[in-house]
Parts: sequence; structure tokens; C-alpha cells
Amino acid sequence: MNLLLGVNIDHIATLRQARYALLPDSPNAEPSVIDAVADAELGGADSITIHVRGDRRHMQEADAYRIKEATELPINLEMGNSEEMIDIALKLKPKFICLVPETREEVTTEGGLDVVGLYADLEPTVKRLQAAGMEISMFIDPDIEQVEASARMGAEMVELHTGCFANAVGGEASKRVEELDRLKAAAERGHEIGLQVNAGHGINYENIHELYAVPYLKELNIGHTIVARSVRVGFTQAVSEIRELMEGYDPEGVVV
Ligand code: PXP
Repeated sequence: MNLLLGVNIDHIATLRQARYALLPDSPNAEPSVIDAVADAELGGADSITIHVRGDRRHMQEADAYRIKEATELPINLEMGNSEEMIDIALKLKPKFICLVPETREEVTTEGGLDVVGLYADLEPTVKRLQAAGMEISMFIDPDIEQVEASARMGAEMVELHTGCFANAVGGEASKRVEELDRLKAAAERGHEIGLQVNAGHGINYENIHELYAVPYLKELNIGHTIVARSVRVGFTQAVSEIRELMEGYDPEGVVV
């Protein structure tokens, strides 16, 4: 097994923001993204992925600096192509950047980056970030033209969007095979022209093994399913711990 695991901890911050968006510095603010980094490291993460979005719905800019400070693991910053995000990247200097499309309306990243159509906008960003020492990945749909355009631009890596594959469930089996074939062909082409080939989005505990049919994958970036599973595997213990604390109550007693 020589696949690397990039753990995306954005949804740890989503949970924190659901309660503490207006009290970001409260000592009560939980869960802690710093604890999540340590837990991910203990679990075997090879890198930590975060996405500081324009609307700051989960990770905040301050989180990014605190996370970088707290770990030796490489940071992979997902970002949209905006001046604001370029400034943050140049200050943060993560090892990896993953350029993603970003719109305010989307629930999560939808579709890959159109490297072909946005070539002229993206190229200067790629060069600026590379000049500052970062390695660049383009988050693209598994289309040969997008893979080739990413290589032409000089990106070191592509991250193949596995969302269409992951969502091809419950319908015709041929659709899933088709999506897997697209991933295989894109991975083969990427490898052939010298790109590191990663994959991510929508990978879960059920579908991960199917992706082993895709050759030349170097790293998988996984987030939502890990956070969701941690609730499943940890909820009983969390309930029993609060239950145990409640045993300390004595209706006749004096609270000190
Ligand atoms: N890769 C990229 C580029 C993403 O935008 C995301 C979602 O933030 C992921 C991987 C992780 O996807 P998921 O949370 O579905 O595992």
C-alpha cells in the first residue's frame, strides 16, 4: 500500500461554526481543529487539507496559520483563484496548493476546475505560487483535455474529481463503470505526461476499494466521510461520558 492519505478537516470547523461562528475565540469553542490535526496524525494522515473559502463557512484564515504552526505534516491548501486567497497562500506558504473552482451558492465544490477555459487566468496564479515554493495541484474532472492543460501550465499534480463516480449509485451500473473508466483514462494520461495523480471528493468507506482499479494514484484526499464516521464510532462513548458526569449530582447535596 503506497497510497498517501490527505485528511480534509474542514467539517471539524463546520461543526464549530454551527455554534461558535460569532464567538470564534471563546474558550468553549469546540471541536478544536488543532485537536483534529493531532488525531488525524495519530490515525495515519500523511497531510492535512483545509479549504479557506471566500465566505469562511468553515475554516477561518486564523485556523490556517494555527494549523500550520501545530503540525509537521504538510498542509494542502485548497483555494479558489482570487487575489484574497493568493495573499493568504503567500503568507501561509503551505507545501501544497490545490486550485479549485469556488462559488458562494455551492454546498461543496461542484465539478472540477476548467483549466482549458480559464487557462489565461489560472496560469499567472500557478506561476506566482510556484515561485514562492508551493507545489500545485489542479482539481479537475477526469477529462483528458483538462489533464493535458494542467501539464501544459506546469502544475505538478492533478486531483481527479471523484464526485461523479461517487454519486453514480442507485442508477444504472453502466454509469458507474463509465465514471470509473473516465478516471482510469485520465490517470493514465496524467501519469504518461509526468503529473502526480491524486483523487478526491465523495470517497467513502464503501466505495474506496473500487478506486483501486484506477492506476497511478498517489494520494487520496478524504474529508466528509471521516468526520461522519467519527460521529458514528465515537457517539456512544461521548454520551456515556456525559452520563457518567451526571452521576456526580446529589439532589440533597451542596454544590461547591
Ligand atoms: N478534494 C477537493 C478538491 C475538495 O474540494 C474536497 C471537498 O472539500 C475534497 C477533496 C474532500 O471531499 P470529501 O469531503 O467529499 O471527502
